[in-house]
Amino acid sequence: MLTAYDYPIARILDESGIDIVLVGDSLGNVMLGYRNTLPVTMTEMIVHTQAVSRAVKRAMVVADMPFGSYQSDPSLAVKNAVDLIKAGAEAVKVEGAEYVEVIRRILKAGIPVMGHLGFTPQSVYKIGTRVQGLGTREKSRLLKDARALEKAGCFAVVLEMVEPKLAQQIKKALKIPVIGIGSGENLDGQVLVTYDLLGLYPKPPKFAKKYVDLAPMIKKAVRRFISG
Ligand code: KIV
Repeated sequence: MLTAYDYPIARILDESGIDIVLVGDSLGNVMLGYRNTLPVTMTEMIVHTQAVSRAVKRAMVVADMPFGSYQSDPSLAVKNAVDLIKAGAEAVKVEGAEYVEVIRRILKAGIPVMGHLGFTPQSVYKIGTRVQGLGTREKSRLLKDARALEKAGCFAVVLEMVEPKLAQQIKKALKIPVIGIGSGENLDGQVLVTYDLLGLYPKPPKFAKKYVDLAPMIKKAVRRFISG
């Protein structure tokens, strides 16, 4: 799974054979220059989900439910999930296990839900940016949360910055696919922010492997254009 927020990148990912294109709310920091994902609105998610879904012919498109779109009211959460599906997504992703009831309501509306545990960026002010699942209590809570998401009906779960041994334990405990980011190897899948992979985002997380460094290449091309 890789993220996309725009038509050309989504098209390239799809044509390259990626299984899932995630319109992540990382849109906020990566594309829109916000400090984090918290300011991202439903309107922004809808515009970018529309652009991505116009490009993707083959992969599954999953859209993030942004901060504030599901926390306050289950009926509003269902409406917002419906709006993302109308924008072209085939499933939505929800952070945390606190909203299992909301997840059930969204599923009841016929919308598949992907869970997201560990470092959940929408809770950055509460949990900070450290690896999750280090102490005994945190370990058992994460395992319990993962089981709760599976039981609620999530079709997959993302584990972000989860201590790798615990990530393996969670993978073994669940039947649904476990997709990792900064949570070690040998999970069912991996996800990265495409702009980190391409070297286009100036502040990538430490775990994000850069597969190509496009920023200097683009600068070189622009300088060639300037100098004629
Ligand atoms: O918003 C996002 O890009 C994500 C991935 C990092 C999993 O949630």
